[in-house]
Amino acid sequence: MGYSVKTEPQVIAFCCMHCAYAAADLAGSSRFGYPANLKIVALPCTGRTDMGHILQSFEDGAAGVLVAGCLPGRCHYVSGNLYARQRVDYLTGLLEEIGLQGERVRMINISAGMGAKFAELANEFVETIRALGPTGLTRKPGSGDFQPIAEKSTGPSALTDNESVLPLADPKPIDPKPMDPKPIERGVT
Ligand code: FES
Repeated sequence: MGYSVKTEPQVIAFCCMHCAYAAADLAGSSRFGYPANLKIVALPCTGRTDMGHILQSFEDGAAGVLVAGCLPGRCHYVSGNLYARQRVDYLTGLLEEIGLQGERVRMINISAGMGAKFAELANEFVETIRALGPTGLTRKPGSGDFQPIAEKSTGPSALTDNESVLPLADPKPIDPKPMDPKPIERGVT
């Protein structure tokens, strides 16, 4: 399943404000176009990019996430871009494990003066995401949970229609009994 003109993929770009954010700004002012569906989130450093932020983006409907940081050796916080690279590499494998394509998350390194390069890499990434199509993730109506859309398989382990979406277990109620605080033992001095 692909995208129609009306349903462009949403792509999030976590951009370091010292480099990629400025490069995106320069691309705009220099009229190097990049797709309007690339939503930029400015960060003080890509080292601030948490894996949870990226996974949450997918949960919230993004089809791809770009992390754009300073060139190697030019991070204003010394090694923030290296940590970001490690997290992106880890997430690439994790996405594959959970059935999404690892290409949906990518890190680029760029300087503030590379406006044209930013536009080129952003266009290339959005094109990759467009070719991959939607993630197939959807939120269960009426709840905050999300679940993969069950694809019908023709293999021997195919689920029946009734089994295609596993029911979610009811969450256990929280025990309302408050914990007794332990008295603080104070030593006699
Ligand atoms: Fe730009 Fe760290 S300050 S990636």
